[in-house]
Amino acid sequence: MNSFRALAPSSTANLGPGFDIFGLALDLFVDEIIITRKQEQNGRITISTIKQNDSMKIPYDNENNSAALVVKKMMKDYSIKDNIDIQINKGVPPGYGLGSSAASSVATAYAFDKLFHLETNLIDLISYSAEGEKASAGVKHYDNVASSMLGGFIIVRNFPSLEFIKFEPPEDLYLVVGIPNIPVPNKKTEVARSILPGSSPLNNVITNISNASTIVAGFAYKDVNMIAKGLDDKIVEPVRKRTIPGYDKVKENAINSGALALTISGAGPSVISILNTERHAHKVMEAVKGGFAAANIESKVYLCKPSKGAKNQDKISSY
Ligand code: HSE
Repeated sequence: MNSFRALAPSSTANLGPGFDIFGLALDLFVDEIIITRKQEQNGRITISTIKQNDSMKIPYDNENNSAALVVKKMMKDYSIKDNIDIQINKGVPPGYGLGSSAASSVATAYAFDKLFHLETNLIDLISYSAEGEKASAGVKHYDNVASSMLGGFIIVRNFPSLEFIKFEPPEDLYLVVGIPNIPVPNKKTEVARSILPGSSPLNNVITNISNASTIVAGFAYKDVNMIAKGLDDKIVEPVRKRTIPGYDKVKENAINSGALALTISGAGPSVISILNTERHAHKVMEAVKGGFAAANIESKVYLCKPSKGAKNQDKISSY
């Protein structure tokens, strides 16, 4: 076997108060990665892609490409010297807060592990996937990679050691995602992290912990209303929403049209709203679009459900 192909889905991180802690896999977009081992043994990594249109532009150099960073680290740790080609077929739009680098990184770690029969344990595999986040965020964060790998709703525990807690989302959880058509900077997540406050007043921290606990309770009770109640964030959203034109109007519109809550998806600029029925979905989608349009921003709007994650993509295959 010389190649292995894997798929990994988009994801939304934070869900409001769960900065770097909460992730939810989204059955919306998918990245496909094919890892091929070449005959030569120079330890060289090459990157190729089938479709590279403007909305899917990703860096090609190994230092700034998420998939290459994952392969580089795994090659080093497992002393693998083969030349490796990474074929990336982007489905997740990069730079819009939908776990694009995570999807590529997760599918890469998964495929590389299978190709070389490494049998890496799942926590290490997620940790290798997080290497890819350095390309856009400058640091490893686990919310997107863990949910993209494991599916469902994930709580990241970082201390004293890396652990993940998974909940199956309620059947009646629907998400409306709005992607504004605005330019995003290179290394967008790093930029979006650099504007965050280093500390916060205790009352904001208390509100956020209360809301984050409510979200977890909502997943535990499979109660979408309860999940939505916890989405309000006093620390990150007030700062990052300034980078999203029309954000307040988009949120107000969505809630007036039947969404239970709306927040920023990951580091933005996409937004994500929570619904407990498909019935209002069309109205909410129009409302989100209208909110962006009021700020002269075009947008794409989608309805989706949670995803089961890369581990459960039935198309994972080798050849
Ligand atoms: N938790 C990360 C952040 C997610 O908000 O910076 C980035 O997608």
